[in-house]
Amino acid sequence: MEIDFWIDRWENDQTGFHQPQINPYLVYFYGEKGPPLEQRDRLRVFVPLCGKSSDMLWLSQNGYKVFGVECSERAVRAFFEENGLACKHATKDDHALYISEKQAADSSPAIEIYQGDFFALQADVFDDVSDVFDRASLIALPEDMRKQYAEKMAELLKPGTRVLLVTLSYEQSQMDGPPFSVSEEDVHALYAENFSVQKLCFKDIIDDEQRMKDRGLNSLVETVYKLTRK
Ligand SMILES: C[S@@+](CC[C@H](N)C(=O)[O-])C[C@H]1O[C@@H](n2cnc3c(N)ncnc32)[C@H](O)[C@@H]1O
Repeated sequence: MEIDFWIDRWENDQTGFHQPQINPYLVYFYGEKGPPLEQRDRLRVFVPLCGKSSDMLWLSQNGYKVFGVECSERAVRAFFEENGLACKHATKDDHALYISEKQAADSSPAIEIYQGDFFALQADVFDDVSDVFDRASLIALPEDMRKQYAEKMAELLKPGTRVLLVTLSYEQSQMDGPPFSVSEEDVHALYAENFSVQKLCFKDIIDDEQRMKDRGLNSLVETVYKLTRK
């Protein structure tokens, strides 16, 4: 799943992974269970492989600093345009950087998106990162790239950084990814050396996922983990 594959998907509007609604686990763990509103701007949340995810908008509107990385320029432009956000442009190392411009009455922290390759991000960008929200990012990658992804996360994140990780698992022989099946054993194999791994909840969601039923699945388990960088 090299970058060209994803750029083609965006160019051809094959973006069935995009969810118009805000991820319910994000809302629960960072809204209801999150810190009080006035303490949130001390936290900076990284959204890897972010697409045009509305979750970034929710994080900003709920007081968190947020930045994403996304390889597709079309996805990044769509994020700002569809949300009516003006943005300024800069460059940082190998990435084009898009930064939302504040409206007069808006106290939400700015949203930044690094457009380019996740694997080319430099550690200095992560100095004040406290949290990561990974929905449809790890599971977008095939097995060999998932290993590189978890290693890169360990390289970039400082001790204490929390990751809310949402995975899917299913019988891989029933369907080709993406999304790829990532089991609990896989999560431990990928992360346990550098992160503590806590399973928070899981649910079989196949009855809500007609698209996945049509692709041949009879079970699809969504699992949420909290990882903490050791
Ligand atoms: C399955 S989508 C998920 C998007 C987003 N997390 C969401 O919940 O809607 C995976 C995204 O990762 C992007 N992507 C894939 N490989 C990447 C890479 N190496 N660097 C940056 N973005 C990448 C793709 O363009 C795509 O938008």
